[in-house]
Amino acid sequence: MGEKKKKNKMKCMLMAIMVLQMLFSHVSSLHRTQFPSTFLFGAATSSYQIEGGYLEGNKSLSNWDVFTHMPGKILDGSNGDVADDHYHLYTEDVELLDYLGVNSYRFSISWARILPRGRFGEINLEGIAFYSNIIDALLLKGIQPFVTLNHFDFPYELEHRYGAWLSSEIQKDFAYFAEVCFNAFGDRVKFWTTFNEPNLLIKFSYMIGVFPPCRCSKPFGNCTSGDSAVEPYVVAHNVILSHATAVDVYRRKYQAKQGGSIGIVIATKWYEPLRNITEDYAAAQRALSFEAAWFLDPIINGDYPAEMRDIVGSNLPEFTPAEQRLLESKLDFIGINQYSSTYVRDCKYSSCQLDFYEGNALVFATDERDGVPIGKPTALSGIFVVPYGIEKVVMYMKQRYNNTPMYITENGYSQKGDSSTSMEEMVNDIERVEFIHDYLSYLSNAIRQGADVRGYFIWSLLDNFEWAFGYTIKFGLYYVDFDSQRRAPKLSAEWYKKFLNGSNLPKVKEDDAKLVCSSS
Ligand code: BGC
Repeated sequence: MGEKKKKNKMKCMLMAIMVLQMLFSHVSSLHRTQFPSTFLFGAATSSYQIEGGYLEGNKSLSNWDVFTHMPGKILDGSNGDVADDHYHLYTEDVELLDYLGVNSYRFSISWARILPRGRFGEINLEGIAFYSNIIDALLLKGIQPFVTLNHFDFPYELEHRYGAWLSSEIQKDFAYFAEVCFNAFGDRVKFWTTFNEPNLLIKFSYMIGVFPPCRCSKPFGNCTSGDSAVEPYVVAHNVILSHATAVDVYRRKYQAKQGGSIGIVIATKWYEPLRNITEDYAAAQRALSFEAAWFLDPIINGDYPAEMRDIVGSNLPEFTPAEQRLLESKLDFIGINQYSSTYVRDCKYSSCQLDFYEGNALVFATDERDGVPIGKPTALSGIFVVPYGIEKVVMYMKQRYNNTPMYITENGYSQKGDSSTSMEEMVNDIERVEFIHDYLSYLSNAIRQGADVRGYFIWSLLDNFEWAFGYTIKFGLYYVDFDSQRRAPKLSAEWYKKFLNGSNLPKVKEDDAKLVCSSS
């Protein structure tokens, strides 16, 4: 597309938003003031998905570097060697955040960049400098860094040495890594999370075996080694204790002088009972226990949910009394990644086919009721647009965890896109605008009902490496041309900017936008 044409396109999108604002001022609209003034509004990314520079600056290989280089693992045969080249372009990316007007940015630290050999080698000062520079650049723009210590990637050496999360050794490594980060960045970072979505990661890595180290057993998946009935719970136990140990270090040595807060991020679908019967209501509660409470109950209340113990039995590890003491109230806030919802029916009291993801909760998950899907499909199979789900999840957390402060650490909409998809198609992301508008509206309902939600981050700032789907799925507010590394704001980026600026924003309907564009 020529430069002039691109400019016209952008102008057209901006006009679409402005004209729609005037035309639809009578429809229910969303406004920044529906959220507290101290609310964090941001965008999120993760190290492996955007950084690239995979062997630069003394970084070692991570588990994902090794995995993506194995043939056949990633849908389009790609990897994160370069990704968004954020390693070299971070200054430009901070400008993109500044353009949006966000007051926070959620990103993760590559463990292999900070400690190439885990606790068995030196701290990599080049890695420290890289993140220090990002943090300084953000703060100069008034953007709060919201840092995830572990978003799926870790030094491969730990896998090789002792089987990483399968061994309790990892607790020492994670606590050491966390302390190195608190020490190096905690003077400037006030929001920490230990793990991103361990609940989802563990199922993908140790139950169905599609993420490294690809361990599983039948009927959940078909791997050469692993045990889907045992290992997910062992790994979760180590993650929970790693989290608690890191938080303990933060609380004892850093929190008082640095004044930050620390939490964990859990992926949480909303589970809606398929039928209006007691068994399906119980199934939905059970699915939530196996999804979120699996991690949050121990971290907040010191033990796994009773219904997990009931089903998983002796495969669910026990916490010793000392571990239970360590666990007590081990977070300041809950990070919630909320994208989709699903129907569930009971499989505990009547037999049915067990779903590979939710099946361990003895439920059958389905996206349809009476042939009608739960929401509009997205580019990712199994992920539907169900805006009310975010309100329900938040209200569930409010009630179960005594209104512990919450941040929506991820929420976003995916587009399909490969090298054959034009920039024009990708940039005109009206569906993403609708998605964000509607989810934010439902989130504001929860806040009105007293839920202590303190922030919201869109996944993602940039189109990036979408794990097993490579570059075929795009979540960015900014389009990225992976050949030239050029970034361009999508319609959703302009919409978000206007919203953050305090404009009253109705959602944009496709036909309306076309109307405005064709007349301009
Ligand atoms: C993960 C992100 C991922 C996103 C979209 C979340 O599960 O934290 O890394 O890209 O969902 O699939």
